[in-house]
Amino acid sequence: MLTKIIKVDPLNPEKGAISEAAGVIKRGGLVAFPTETVYGLGGDATSEEACRAIYEAKGRESDNPLIVHIGSVEQLKPMVGRVEGGVSRALPVIWPGPVTLVFRRNRKFPDCASRGLDTVAVRMPAHRVALELIKASGVPIAAPSANRSKRPSATSADDVKEELGGRIDMILDSGEATFGIESTVIDVTRRPCAVLRPGAFTREELSRYLGDIIIPTASVSAPRAPGMKYRHYAPYKKLALASGRMILELSRMKDKKIAILCSEETAGRLGRECLVIPIGSRSDPYSIAKNLFGSFRKLERSGAEAGVIEPVEERGIGLAIMNRVEKATKGVVVSNREQLRRFLEADSSSWMD
Ligand code: TXA
Ligand code: MG
Repeated sequence: MLTKIIKVDPLNPEKGAISEAAGVIKRGGLVAFPTETVYGLGGDATSEEACRAIYEAKGRESDNPLIVHIGSVEQLKPMVGRVEGGVSRALPVIWPGPVTLVFRRNRKFPDCASRGLDTVAVRMPAHRVALELIKASGVPIAAPSANRSKRPSATSADDVKEELGGRIDMILDSGEATFGIESTVIDVTRRPCAVLRPGAFTREELSRYLGDIIIPTASVSAPRAPGMKYRHYAPYKKLALASGRMILELSRMKDKKIAILCSEETAGRLGRECLVIPIGSRSDPYSIAKNLFGSFRKLERSGAEAGVIEPVEERGIGLAIMNRVEKATKGVVVSNREQLRRFLEADSSSWMD
């Protein structure tokens, strides 16, 4: 399949491009489009065929439901059951924005994006191109992140091309995604609300609008967040978390087989003989979120055999960053030489499972 790539102005989307992309969606085809979080792989959320094509293009497990993207709050009404008053009042404040809400699904709304669950995850993205595309298509758009299953999300059209080129009809290219990390997924079917996936909208800020928000323990959240049980965000090379001391020690070894993914501040303290991939500034954790998946891709393209990454503080946007890092590293931590030896000896292919 030939994937057509069209450049679109992020602030003032060209009408021709939008109507061509909407035509693809209406015909049941797939269009990757920018959102403020990451690029999405969109198809008609009410079409069984389009949803099936999304799973095929990504190689995604068929029980992992898709987020349905809408362009107005009116579009939500036929999709969901009763929405609690507090949540309903919060909608115009948090949408459009990087937060996905899981509602009870109206039985009349097709369940192809929800994979038969009695809930539906919905988000109104804060990106002109996404909103115009949804409006012009006339249907809600189901869109997972535009990467092959288990891989880091795509934050640019080039990433999408690398992941899905030749497997989808079209890519709308509007440059880099603003946040670079996916939306926060919140279960609003019960009180208090629960975070199913930390993301670009911090829990601290969201709780101002939704009241208390709990982080459920794994055993409670697993059945409610079907996607979280799968491996995610894996670069093609081994990656481990490393302590500050270990990073310093590694840099002194002058061994370019191991890339060091760290903040600009830390990078500034390391010598030039080691291979450093700066992620962003510690004084602006959002810059680390924005560059995180890109740094995984730089590791893949580098000459290094493996990478180590510096942790960030787990609060605010740091919670979402560390959630992605923990999955990408499989929770492997290197804080002494013995752990480093075991990490370097481990089979790379096991990182991709
Ligand atoms: O920022 C984002 O959320 C991006 C952009 C494109 O909107 N989308 C995205 O989609 O990250 P995806 O498919 O990569 O992740 C969606 C997550 C998965 O963990 C999935 O299991 C969960 O949302 N999800 C979807 N529907 C759900 C439902 N009904 N109940 C619980 N979790 C659900
Ligand atoms: Mg994803």
